[in-house]
Amino acid sequence: MTRLYTRVAGTGHHVPEHVVTNEDLAARINTSDVWIRERTGIRERRFSQDGESTAQLALRASLRALEDAGCAASDLDLIVFATLSPDYFFPGSGVLLGALLDIPGVPALDVRNQCSGFLYGLQCADAMIRSGVYRRILLVGAEVHSTGLDISDQGRDIAVLFGDGAGAFILEAAEQEEGAPRGVLGVRLGADGRHAEALWCQAPSSAQFPARITAENLARREHFPQMKGRLVFKHAVTTMRDAMLGLLEELEISLNQVDLLIPHQANLRISALVQKALALPDDRVFNNIERYGNTTAASLPIAVDESLRLGRLKEGDLLALVAFGSGFTWGASLIRM
Ligand code: UT7
Repeated sequence: MTRLYTRVAGTGHHVPEHVVTNEDLAARINTSDVWIRERTGIRERRFSQDGESTAQLALRASLRALEDAGCAASDLDLIVFATLSPDYFFPGSGVLLGALLDIPGVPALDVRNQCSGFLYGLQCADAMIRSGVYRRILLVGAEVHSTGLDISDQGRDIAVLFGDGAGAFILEAAEQEEGAPRGVLGVRLGADGRHAEALWCQAPSSAQFPARITAENLARREHFPQMKGRLVFKHAVTTMRDAMLGLLEELEISLNQVDLLIPHQANLRISALVQKALALPDDRVFNNIERYGNTTAASLPIAVDESLRLGRLKEGDLLALVAFGSGFTWGASLIRM
């Protein structure tokens, strides 16, 4: 008796070359390297240049993941594209990536769940693979935040946090005899829209009459993201802890079995508190926010790919992923690599 499961056949990531240090930001706005490092752990982030778009960053990450998986773009059955910074209001970046990969006809699904987007996409892809709808899916998380940040004293709380980048997985159908399960073992998701305005970008908005964006929106800086930082921080820590523990319990897996936890890279203090709440030692948690800032939907796949390349994560390891962000939305996943 065999069962169908989703395996991670390849991973890849790409970040723009242009490094923006805390000092670079401090030269433009009223902030400091010390404040940013102490409050967030971030030292530098990457900003895309010369109009390199979200879909273009995704292309670079996807080509690396395809190479890692040893397959061609023409082997893909579906693109799942997670981003909060799509190239356009419409169409979504998934179809743009399909065009860049030169695979006309391959369906493309866009996922709009911010920092949890990659895990939302992972659950969709896993369900479609296990139900036999598709056999090989490109799941990509990519963001260009730099063109949407309020890099001024008014926007400094958010401007120092975010960076650009992309990460991708090739997910494949595989079969195995009954026994110790492999691949994606489970994904647990959640959302609570009562907090939508705790971290959001108000304009442009189709709910605004008569125009989606006005001079007043611009004057009030409503086209930039706004955040209630402390509220988001507090919810992030407890929700990520609970999501992870909930999934472990559901799958009857103990924390001791987890080889590596990768929390969404929002703030090193948030990651440290989640690590503490789960009582995990440093060698079983991976963070890279100090170099990239928060890349929202790209944060988990970038960190997975890096931890594989650094040897922190190996074939056969049990990987735990957990995320929380705007919406609020959240998710956790366990993957036997
Ligand atoms: O991806 C998921 C979504 N995002 C998050 O999870 C982020 C969650 N929130 C956070 O990470 C933190 O709340 C922040 C890093 C955004 C802020 O840290 P905080 O310790 O909560 O600071 P705060 O907002 O309470 O502000 C403390 C002080 C304020 O000054 P006063 O009122 O004490 O005089 C701020 O005006 O720090 C000031 N401040 C800054 N100072 C220098 C805020 N931003 C900056 C800045 N540089 N960039």
